[in-house]
Amino acid sequence: MDSTGTFILPPGASTLAPEVDGLFYFIFYASLFFFLVVTIGTLYFAIKYRRKGKPGLTAGISHNTKLEITWTVIPSLLFIVVFLWGFKGFLNMRVVPKDAMEIKVTAQKWFWSFDYPEGVNSVGELVVPQGRPVKLVLSSQDVIHSFAVPDFRVKMDALPNRYTIVWFEAENTGEHQLYCTEYCGKDHSKMLGKVRVVTESEYQKWIEENSRIGEGISLTEFGAQLYKTKGCVTCHTIDGTASTGPTFKGLYGHEVKLTTGETLQADENYLRESILNPMSKIVAGYQPVMPPFQGILKPREVDALVEYIKSLK
Ligand code: CUA
Repeated sequence: MDSTGTFILPPGASTLAPEVDGLFYFIFYASLFFFLVVTIGTLYFAIKYRRKGKPGLTAGISHNTKLEITWTVIPSLLFIVVFLWGFKGFLNMRVVPKDAMEIKVTAQKWFWSFDYPEGVNSVGELVVPQGRPVKLVLSSQDVIHSFAVPDFRVKMDALPNRYTIVWFEAENTGEHQLYCTEYCGKDHSKMLGKVRVVTESEYQKWIEENSRIGEGISLTEFGAQLYKTKGCVTCHTIDGTASTGPTFKGLYGHEVKLTTGETLQADENYLRESILNPMSKIVAGYQPVMPPFQGILKPREVDALVEYIKSLK
């Protein structure tokens, strides 16, 4: 069910959304109702029984059994309803349907990457087929991140050294915002992504296209694609301005000053090492924050990025 969204919640776009929203609004309106009962009651009694003239002695009221049972039993029943409803919803969110397709999600400062069962991968954009349950296996390369798609009503931490699991089934095609909801450092607020829900046939076509990516084009062109899709663009500009990392423009062949005080010439081997193992040589004036791409990039992808950086004179 694609609910239409309200002032408080965005439109729900997964099969989990109706249950989450139902319970949320039940608690919200129950709280609102009792808030009004208590507030209005307090005002009413404060005015009605305010001190008028000479006060007499207050009657010695010890208790009222009927009233006390009422204000114990009604809230208890409400709590039981909320617990059972919430527990059922929790189980639905935790138990992954057997036929779910599995996508590996890797979080790192400051982007998301996705590995699909067909051997394809993507960065910053998760593409899933509509109407099929998707199980995400999350992990992190560095610190704690959190995978959150409000439209799907799902959120799960991505931890280093441990896998966490979350699943959803998107009901209609469309685009949804992905957030990192755990403060993970300088560019946490930029650690965004998109979830694109497409039809089953569009998904197959996308997989097909991506498994052939980089074929039939030059290394430089391929590198230009990877610069965007592998997340380099988040920290390195190509127009000469400094960002989280040094710019790529005019980098090749020029002198680089390191934090150790040494200078070296940025040649192919320096570029290659700085991609695969960035901690080995830190450029003066920058923080050592880049994740290693050893094991993430294929040899041809490293070649392509090096060629691309060389082309940015
Ligand atoms: Cu990753 Cu915040």
